Amino acid sequence: MRLLVTGGCGFIGANFIRLMLARHPDWTIVNLDKLTYAGNRLSLADLEQGPEDRYLFVRGDICDPDLVAGLLADHGLEAVVNFAAETHVDRSINDPAPFIGTNVQGAQNLMDCARRAKTARFVQVSTDEVYGSLGPEGAFTEDSPLAPNSPYSASKAAADLMARAYFKTYGLPVVVTRCSNNYGPYQFPEKLIPLMFLKACRDQTLPVYGDGLNVRDWIYVDDHCLGLESALLKGRPGEVYNFGGAAEKTNLDLVRALLALLGKPESLIEFVQDRPGHDRRYAMNFEKAGKELGFAPGLDFDQGLARTIDWYRANQAWLDSVQSGAYRKFMDHWYGDRP
Ligand code: NAD
Ligand code: DAU
Repeated sequence: MRLLVTGGCGFIGANFIRLMLARHPDWTIVNLDKLTYAGNRLSLADLEQGPEDRYLFVRGDICDPDLVAGLLADHGLEAVVNFAAETHVDRSINDPAPFIGTNVQGAQNLMDCARRAKTARFVQVSTDEVYGSLGPEGAFTEDSPLAPNSPYSASKAAADLMARAYFKTYGLPVVVTRCSNNYGPYQFPEKLIPLMFLKACRDQTLPVYGDGLNVRDWIYVDDHCLGLESALLKGRPGEVYNFGGAAEKTNLDLVRALLALLGKPESLIEFVQDRPGHDRRYAMNFEKAGKELGFAPGLDFDQGLARTIDWYRANQAWLDSVQSGAYRKFMDHWYGDRP
């Protein structure tokens, strides 16, 4: 398999590339990444320096038609997995425009280049957030209506619908996957778990939005990546597949578990102003992916969280590298000026 992965210097993309190259000695991967604030080339630096010629990094934008068409043709790429996106809900509230550029126009450009190149398979990596918010009962199925509540989730839902249109209109063999909250190594420390880890290690207060009772379903990143691998190899074109971790937690319970692991006091928790439009609960029904793709989340949440914390502790250099000027500037701006 000769694969184009986009956004491979981000959290899930980097884990996916590592896992796929390890599991498939005959695969080669071209990683197209713009290196926004969330992209870190260091996450895959060892692959660039490795002895084998199975990984190529290309810095560029998924919105660039000539670049994408050239890569697909020049490298004889057979399939695309699109991770590239603006991904942080709070940033989308501050400034939605980049989310339309990359998540909608970029995804459309990729699909267009892929259909012209007659690419054999396209996986559009989407999210449970396209379904909106759940009450205390039930779980989203693939047939649940799309009801996104943030500019981020609206932009992802738009790309999902574009994928449907490219399948129906042009026959692009596209598969859409929707997954719940991932955690694990290489996650940028603006997201809940690495942010709270960093703050707790420094004995800083941990800002929990609202009453802390919003519920997220957590999946270890490798389990998501294995689901994506099976969607790529076995997913039916035109279909949507839900993935989840079967590990629902309130944010408060999760933060408490993290503090316990770190041996830090719960007095560090500070309840702060809620996120506007904050979805109350997500939960995924992933029976379809279980039946058709053999998907099942493998790692238990407590083990996964402990493994993740061990990784962040052991990879202080990586954490230091992402705490660049741009990151600090953003965080200063955010915490100084909440909407
Ligand atoms: P991330 O923010 O860590 O990484 C995004 C990557 O995309 C970065 O490397 C960035 O440089 C790159 N990128 C952004 N704009 C680009 C552009 N125009 N051209 C090329 N590259 C660009 O994201 P993540 O958390 O790894 O998420 C990856 C994908 O998975 C996203 O599509 C996201 O919507 C989806 N997803 C994420 C989660 C989660 O919990 N993190 C859950 C479900 C789905
Ligand atoms: O559900 C999948 C989605 O998960 C992905 O599509 C998104 O790309 C990814 O960012 C993530 O979105 P969330 O908004 O759920 O993740 P985040 O880590 O930003 O927040 C998780 C929960 O924690 C959410 O309810 C908001 C809350 N939170 C977050 C931060 C950063 C806090 O209480 N305090 C915080 O400082």
